[in-house]
Amino acid sequence: MSRQPFFYDITLRDGNQSLKKPWNIKEKVEVFRLLTELGIPAIEVGFPASSEMDFEAVKRLAEISPDNVTISGLARTVEHDILRAVEAIQPAKKPRLHTFIAMSPFNMKYVLNKSPEEVQKTAIEAVTFAKSKLGKNADIEFSAEHFGDCMENLDFVIDSFQKVVKAGATTINLPNTVERTRVRTFVEMVEKVYNALPKDINISVHCHNDLGMATAATVESFFAGAVQLETALNGLGERAGNTNFYEVAVALHNSGVDVPIDFSKIYETALIISDMAKVAIYDKAPLVGPEALAHRSGIHQDGAVKTKDMQKGAYRAIHPSLIGRKDDEKLGVTSQSGKTAVYEIISRAGYPITLQEAGRITPFIKEAAEKEGELSNKELLDIYFQQVFDVKGSFHILDLEKIKENDYVLHFTFKNETFHIEGKGNGPIDACLNALKSAGFEQKLIHYEQKAMDDDTMGSGASAMTVIKMEAPNGKVIIARGLDESTAIANVKAIFNALNIIEKIS
Ligand code: KIV
Ligand code: ZN
Repeated sequence: MSRQPFFYDITLRDGNQSLKKPWNIKEKVEVFRLLTELGIPAIEVGFPASSEMDFEAVKRLAEISPDNVTISGLARTVEHDILRAVEAIQPAKKPRLHTFIAMSPFNMKYVLNKSPEEVQKTAIEAVTFAKSKLGKNADIEFSAEHFGDCMENLDFVIDSFQKVVKAGATTINLPNTVERTRVRTFVEMVEKVYNALPKDINISVHCHNDLGMATAATVESFFAGAVQLETALNGLGERAGNTNFYEVAVALHNSGVDVPIDFSKIYETALIISDMAKVAIYDKAPLVGPEALAHRSGIHQDGAVKTKDMQKGAYRAIHPSLIGRKDDEKLGVTSQSGKTAVYEIISRAGYPITLQEAGRITPFIKEAAEKEGELSNKELLDIYFQQVFDVKGSFHILDLEKIKENDYVLHFTFKNETFHIEGKGNGPIDACLNALKSAGFEQKLIHYEQKAMDDDTMGSGASAMTVIKMEAPNGKVIIARGLDESTAIANVKAIFNALNIIEKIS
C-alpha cells in the first residue's frame, strides 16, 4: 500500500497534562529529542495558554525544531489562547495552530451551555482569527472535541467541518475524547467525514483508550480515510490514555503499510518514557511489556523454540529486533511447561542435555513448580544436577577399588544390603558391569562415551564426564551421565545413575 500514515504525536500535550508531575522544559526537550529520533513528523508540543511554563516550552521547542517537523500548539477557540499559541509556535519552520471546541450534543448542552449554532459560529470565528494571524499558508487543525459522541448530530458536525475548512482549517481532527462504544461505530463516522470533505483536507483521528480499543480504532480509521494519526508514546494521556504509538505503528507495518518511522528505537524509547513519566509499563503491555515475549505453556514453548530464529514466530506478533528489543523470547518454567523449555533453558545455560533427558526430568520440575510457582534458572539447574548426575534410587555406589590391572572390587549398596564384589574386565566400566552381573544385576550397555572437559564447564570442579546408553529390561534405551574428577569414578557413577533411572521407569 503506497498511502503512508502521518503520525502526529501528543505525548507532550495530552500525555504531559495527565502526568502527576508534568514535565519541565528540560524534560520536554528530552522527550522531543526522542520523538524526532523516532522520525515522527508532527508534534503537538503543548498548550501555551495553560501556563507560563508550557508557553516557554512550546516556544523553546519551536525554536529548536528541525525543518521537517511540524510543531503544533493547542488553543481553545478563544482569542487569548490563539494569540498565545501563535506567539509560541511562530519560531518553528513548520508551525501549526490546533484549536478545538466540543460538538457533541451532551457537551454543548451540559458543559459549554451553548447552542449548536453558537458553537459552530465560535469554531468558524476561531479558525478565521487564527488564519488572520498566521497568514495565507497557515497550517490550522480544527478538532470537534467529543466527535465520538456525535452520532446523532453528525450532519451538523460535518456541516461545521465544511465551514471551518472554508475558513482556513487544513486538518480536521476527529477525537474519540471518551471511548464509550464500538470501534466500528467510530470508524463509520470517520468514513462519513472523509467522504464529505475535499480530498486535500488532512483527516485525523485522536482516540482515547477508555475501553482499551484505541489502537483498533486508530488503525481501522486509517483504512477508512484518516491519514493523520494522533498517538502518544507509551499510550500516555488523560485517564486510560491515548492511542499507543508503538502499537499502531507495528499493527500498520504488519498489515503491509509503509510506516516511515525508525522502529528500532521503539523499545528503548518506551523504557525511557516510562521512567520519565513515572508510569510503569505493565507486565502484559503489548510489544514492550516485560511479559510480552514470555511463554509458559508447553505447547507455546515448543512452537516458540522451533521458530525462534525465524522472522515470523509461532507465538509472537513480531520479531523482537523490529522494535530494537534484544532480550530473547523468555521461557518461564511452571507446572504448565514442557520438555522443550527445559531442554532449551538448560542448553542455553551451557549444560549438556538431550531432549530425552529433558523429558525424563520434566515431571520433577513440574512437581517443584506446582509448589513454588515459576522456577528460577538456578532452581531448574539444581533439579537438573540432581536428576541427571545424582539420580537417587535403590543403588548407591560406595567405591570402585582397584586391586591390580583389570581387577577391581565394587563396593555398593542395594536397598539396605551392602555388596563388595570383585569384577575383572578391560577397564573400570567393564569390571564394574561384570561385578554387577556377579551380584545378579546384569546390565546391557549399548553406548559409552567419555567427555573430557578442560574448563570448569559444570561449575563443580569435575573434569570427566561419562555418557552412556543402557537398554532397560523393557527394551527402552536410556541415557545416563556420570561426573567426577576421576574418569574411572565418572564411569561408575554413570552406571549407577543408569541403574536408578531404569529402576524408576521399569
Ligand atoms: O481528547 C480530545 O478531544 C483532545 C482534544 C483537545 C483534541 O485532546
Ligand atoms: Zn485527548
